[in-house]
Amino acid sequence: MNGGVVMHAIVQGLHDVFAAMWAGGLLTMAVVVVQSMKAARGLQERTKSEGHTGVAGPERFMVLLQKRLRKVVTVAIVGVFVTGILLLRLSLQSSGGVFESSLYSTLIIVKVVLSVIMVLVAIMRSAKLRRFNEGSSDPRESGLPLLFTNAAIAVVVLMLSGVASVVH
Ligand code: HEM
Repeated sequence: MNGGVVMHAIVQGLHDVFAAMWAGGLLTMAVVVVQSMKAARGLQERTKSEGHTGVAGPERFMVLLQKRLRKVVTVAIVGVFVTGILLLRLSLQSSGGVFESSLYSTLIIVKVVLSVIMVLVAIMRSAKLRRFNEGSSDPRESGLPLLFTNAAIAVVVLMLSGVASVVH
């Protein structure tokens, strides 16, 4: 293995790690945490109907959890973009510096567009959560539809990445 191949393998590995952090965080939220929150809400309602008070709402639990997750996600987003652009450069170098119109280049362009949309959705959700944290108790204000939207886009991006690796 020459130095170039080793470098390509390292960047690709890092890209996978950051992508797993970002997409994994979203999928964990959608599949595990939101479902736990729903169970917590059910429990809270049962507790209330039995006359107990003072239990913190499950939406508050979500806000605290998301605050912790935000730092990890920010590192992952920056990492995925930096390593993604490096991968693109390495891939351009190996094709003699031209980004030919092909299924591969179309897949990468669609991926980049979807990745940018994911960042915008994440920013919108973050703003919603901030407003929710400042006092709203309306669960609709916690931006769950945006979380599910981003989790769905993440699955599409991962599928497109798989196809790009195969057709490359
Ligand atoms: C600016 C954004 C991005 C760029 C420019 C980019 C670019 C690339 C490139 C050039 C490859 C190599 C494909 C190949 O030739 O085999 C790749 C692979 C991959 N990307 Fe991205 N990507 C970006 C964002 C993302 C995001 C947001 C995710 C996931 C959430 C992701 C997940 C992956 C995965 C799983 C692979 C497969 C790597 C492998 O085969 O080991 N990428 N990406």
